[in-house]
Amino acid sequence: MQVFNTKEKIEEVIKTLKNQNITIGLVPTMGALHAGHLSLIKRGLNENDKVVVSIFVNPTQFNNQEDLEKYPRTLNRDVKLLKTISEDKIIIFSPSIKEIYGREVLSSTFNFDGLEFEMEGKFREGHFDGVGTIVIRLFEIVKPHNAYFGEKDFQQLQIIRKLVEKHKLRVNVIGCEIYREPNGLAMSSRNERLLPIYKSEAPFIYKTLQVTKDKFTAISANKITEWVVKEFTRNALLKLEYFIIADVNTLKPIQRKSRKKQYRAFIAVYAGEVRLIDNIALN
Ligand code: PAJ
Repeated sequence: MQVFNTKEKIEEVIKTLKNQNITIGLVPTMGALHAGHLSLIKRGLNENDKVVVSIFVNPTQFNNQEDLEKYPRTLNRDVKLLKTISEDKIIIFSPSIKEIYGREVLSSTFNFDGLEFEMEGKFREGHFDGVGTIVIRLFEIVKPHNAYFGEKDFQQLQIIRKLVEKHKLRVNVIGCEIYREPNGLAMSSRNERLLPIYKSEAPFIYKTLQVTKDKFTAISANKITEWVVKEFTRNALLKLEYFIIADVNTLKPIQRKSRKKQYRAFIAVYAGEVRLIDNIALN
């Protein structure tokens, strides 16, 4: 298993691989790897000769210092886990903050045609500038043919697609389905921080989303939203931050249902101190 910490070393290896016409997939992560990440990596392994997994807790995308400090960092465990999937096809890139940012840990400012102001953008100021900054840097370093992102962070996926389109980057962005626990809870590194009572209550989030999907054809989006708000008001443990039914392309809240458009329901919930997000395709 090759593990690199510096841009210089990995760039050298990538150059050699590219000269041999080897296809390269990239799966950017912040580590604390779980089965959700592995589903992206396995897809990458199926579709490329080599897969670079980056493990980097990107400081500029956190708007909350405490969340950044508490973010799980489990590099040794992550490396061991990746070894169980493939010893020779995976390359790990795990740089330091200084290696990526130099002395000034700052993000660039991006224009994602308004995608950045919806949902997560409203509640996590500057978050997508931080994501854009790190992802573009990783694309520059790894120069992948294909890059894999989860629909778990659907807004992020659409923003990366916009980033690639606007900057005319030569990389295929591939969206991957949400990987869930058997009880429906979307896998997330943050799940590790859930206290047991919250962990057993958290599947309520996806159960509620599934009902919204059942209701979608017959009932208006406003009525569905009212119903969701009521369900969470009655729940003593989970606190709803937002529930929105939006057009998948613009991410703007639905106005009038159109058969030609695709919609998803998006949700953010606090389970104690831990913030969880999820979404579901409605049509
Ligand atoms: P992280 O939260 O570690 O997620 C890395 C990738 O795994 C993202 O594309 C995310 O959508 C995907 N992922 C996480 N949980 C998933 C699940 N249950 N099912 C499917 N995919 C899942 O997202 C980030 O890191 C960062 O913002 C990053 C893109 C690495 C930039 O720093």
